[in-house]
Amino acid sequence: MRITANRKAHFNAAHRLYRKDWTDQKNTEIFGKCSNPHFHGHNYDLIVGVTGEIDEETGYLIDLKILKDIIKIEVEDYLDHKNLNLEVEEFKAINPTVENIAVVIYDRIRRVLNTRFDLTITLYETPRNYVIYKGE
Ligand code: NI
Repeated sequence: MRITANRKAHFNAAHRLYRKDWTDQKNTEIFGKCSNPHFHGHNYDLIVGVTGEIDEETGYLIDLKILKDIIKIEVEDYLDHKNLNLEVEEFKAINPTVENIAVVIYDRIRRVLNTRFDLTITLYETPRNYVIYKGE
């Protein structure tokens, strides 16, 4: 029996979307308000989904305490209250869009999550805008 356990989490972070090789005008045209040179914040809501087989001995898919700790270390401690452009290594070379943030979160959790689980990252940048990434 394959089943998915989900855990919700939350973090705040600041970012700016821009390309150095573009003019300010082009950055504003493409990225709109998210290109504000003084940065701005978002309240990110995260759902981490773990899929696999139920363990017959425990009846668990995964001990949710383990997932909670992984999310704390790999996501909350790493991203919460950070300026993503200036303080987070991965975003020195790529734009901290909601898409790229979801990929970074996926990669960090994937590295430490048991390989018998599939992983799905759902990341909301606003209550209405969200992405889903499954590592494909
Ligand atoms: Ni933004």
